Amino acid sequence: MRKKSLMLFSSLFIAVCLSTVALAAGGHGHKKEKKVGILLVAFGSSEASAQVSFENIAKKTKTAYPDIPVRWAYTSTIIRKKLAKQGKQLDSPEVALAKMQDEDFTHVAVQSLHTIGGDEYHDLRRTVGAFKIMGGFQRIILGYPLLATQKDMERAVDAVLENIPSERKSDEAVVLMGHGTHHPSNAFYAALMFQLQLKDPNVFVGTVEGYPEVDLIEELLLKNKIKKAYLMPFMSVAGDHAKNDMAGDEEDSWKSILTKAGIECVPVLKGTAEFDNFVDIWVDHIGGPLSHF
Ligand code: CO
Repeated sequence: MRKKSLMLFSSLFIAVCLSTVALAAGGHGHKKEKKVGILLVAFGSSEASAQVSFENIAKKTKTAYPDIPVRWAYTSTIIRKKLAKQGKQLDSPEVALAKMQDEDFTHVAVQSLHTIGGDEYHDLRRTVGAFKIMGGFQRIILGYPLLATQKDMERAVDAVLENIPSERKSDEAVVLMGHGTHHPSNAFYAALMFQLQLKDPNVFVGTVEGYPEVDLIEELLLKNKIKKAYLMPFMSVAGDHAKNDMAGDEEDSWKSILTKAGIECVPVLKGTAEFDNFVDIWVDHIGGPLSHF
């Protein structure tokens, strides 16, 4: 946490310097010409399989807002470092925003590509708040993550149901793997399961790092006498968690745990951002900030 604040501080320091330079270079109180931009912020992934998701989001954003320049940032330092070693330079949100300030953007819609408003989202919220206080942009607004309003929940429920493989029969289960967190927003996963089950009682939502845990999901599957389950990530990308914790051969993967319990498992390695119906929710959320510009 300390390292994070230090990084935020130094990025902000750079940003303040940049804005001071910009002011000295010809500010003198003249109102800058309006320049709107979008900054898409993902956790990031170093998995090649995740690129499909990011490309899909980039394409749909471009289609929805063709005249607005789009920039990207990854919040994960580990992933950015990993990518840097492969020669791919990805910015943190702080650096990306400092650069956008330097490029004379006046209005920025920062769009979170997170699933819930957890830690990562709130870190981003603080960064956006800091840039707001600095006054580097005329307006800077953060868009909601995938699941925020009740309308989002309903759209996500429909999207999940639409994306289930067509060969799945109604007495077979669909088990979604969410990330999960110690953050209070973790409650979204159980809330999603409740709303899904109103429409399809054999759809379950568990998490890797929060509640509901896989043990509870196993218990519920056995109670419903489920013999076969489709396992799908409820994360934007089918990255490390989906490949290993969900579908891996290790004995603590969900596939292994459920198989051991007598349930045949069919992993589906596709992140939510590979499906247009989910991407539409994120892309529509950019419209929130843009409507205030
Ligand atoms: Co994780």
